[in-house]
Amino acid sequence: MSEFILEMKNIGKSFSGVSVLRNINLGLVKGEVHALLGENGAGKSTLIKIISGFHPTEKTAQIILDGKRVAFKKPKDALDASIHTIYQELTLCPDMTVAENIVIDKQDRFKGVLQHKKQYNKIARDVLNRMEQKDIRVNAMVRTLSIAQQQVVEIAKAIASDAKVILMDEPTSSISQEDADELMNIIRHLRDQGVTIIYISHRLHEIDGIADRISVLRDGDLVGTVNNKDVTENDLINMMVGRQLKDMFPKRDIKLGDVVLSVKDLESEKTFKNVSFEVHKGEIFGIGGLVGAKRTEVLEALYGLRKITGGQIELNGKKFVPRNPINAMKHKIAFVTEDRKKSGLVLCLSVMENLNMINAQEKTPLGTLSWKKLMGKAKKQQDSLDIRIFTLKQIVDTLSGGNQQKVALGKWMEFKPDILLFDEPTRGIDIGAKTEIYNIMGELAAAGTAIIMVSSELPELISMADNIMVMREGVMKGVLNRSEATQEAVMTLAALKD
Ligand SMILES: Nc1ncnc2c1ncn2[C@@H]1O[C@H](COP(=O)(O)OP(=O)(O)OP(=O)(O)O)[C@@H](O)[C@H]1O
Ligand SMILES: [Mg+2]
Repeated sequence: MSEFILEMKNIGKSFSGVSVLRNINLGLVKGEVHALLGENGAGKSTLIKIISGFHPTEKTAQIILDGKRVAFKKPKDALDASIHTIYQELTLCPDMTVAENIVIDKQDRFKGVLQHKKQYNKIARDVLNRMEQKDIRVNAMVRTLSIAQQQVVEIAKAIASDAKVILMDEPTSSISQEDADELMNIIRHLRDQGVTIIYISHRLHEIDGIADRISVLRDGDLVGTVNNKDVTENDLINMMVGRQLKDMFPKRDIKLGDVVLSVKDLESEKTFKNVSFEVHKGEIFGIGGLVGAKRTEVLEALYGLRKITGGQIELNGKKFVPRNPINAMKHKIAFVTEDRKKSGLVLCLSVMENLNMINAQEKTPLGTLSWKKLMGKAKKQQDSLDIRIFTLKQIVDTLSGGNQQKVALGKWMEFKPDILLFDEPTRGIDIGAKTEIYNIMGELAAAGTAIIMVSSELPELISMADNIMVMREGVMKGVLNRSEATQEAVMTLAALKD
């Protein structure tokens, strides 16, 4: 009998003849948390998709579960083998109750037309109790739960089906720190009950807190598997990027220009009020705060996506009321949103089309679009942002997170915004790509663009921003300049009650 509950041998994957995973050999010990690390595009999600049956097992590959060789043709095969996946995008049914969602995979046990509500509820309650989640009501509609709670339900669903292996692909990328901490507790708890977990995250401190072992992928190869206790964060970074990273936050020495944007007592319905700040040419202006501080909402108001009910905005010294995004764009304002998949990109279109999304709207003299010209423009952005793709015709949905973010930003480059609204610039992005995004921000600022950045990552906020406004629950708590901005100072303001 092998020491592994799940063993993968010679796993590989190619897309259209391009190999993205090669000869991966990996064993999971029962009851361990096994972290998968690697830069964007390293192949982590692809590996998960193979183990979860999303990509069929190739003939040359071997997956051995509990000593038996298995081959998956579809996700259900993996589910039937007790391998469950928690994706970033949750897959619950919003208009069913917590209990119904938890038992949905076991429906065939409840034969007949009668609803077995009591039974459902009992199963659900037992599982949630086992996970020490007493706050979630089994009768509640899933729609009414927070994202973090939905994630808990998703895990409960796996437990209810006696999952032996749970695969988690960046589960904390869209929840608050507090919820992430709670998730870590749940994971430890599951591990203690003998569940094996594969955990993907770009947050190294998280990995350090829960992983027993760590495997690192680089460009489709398995660099190695190590015990967490034997390595430092730096060792892991070196394994991931294959080089020493020098400055995470590139130094910028830019003299700020004139005031471009001045906001006074801005208010939007019941969302936020009394927000006042100034942003200069070439400045990176940060907005910090906890989840629910209404930071994104301020950006939305500036972009004409939210009704302004009080206060004033001056743009280059003139009164400005952003009526809608087209109007904001006419005033040279760009917006890179927090959720690139939902609002930043058109996932089903190519990189080329996405990169031209903004400038293709500019009319050519003849009123036509030249394919060759568009290709040329896209190629220029691809090179200058170092977007790593096989071809510009590649569909954006198939790109890794970091490369998607570069496309979301790249489509604005030709537009040369005066003001760039940048919401969570590096969410879900690896360490190497992060530095690249910071470099691009620095270059934009040097060229005179004013960047207004919302960020939940304190090191990023503090190192990148010239000035930082901190908000809490729709109220501005203060503005800190570079010399005042420490993590403590930001956090103190972020938690400051009225
Ligand atoms: N369906 C697909 N078609 C073509 N290429 C794909 C497809 N899915 C993934 N790829 C490519 O495979 C490579 C690995 O992607 P994968 O999503 O596994 O990376 P990742 O390590 O999960 O990155 P990230 O940290 O950004 O999520 C990337 O180059 C990606 O563009
Ligand atoms: Mg991924």
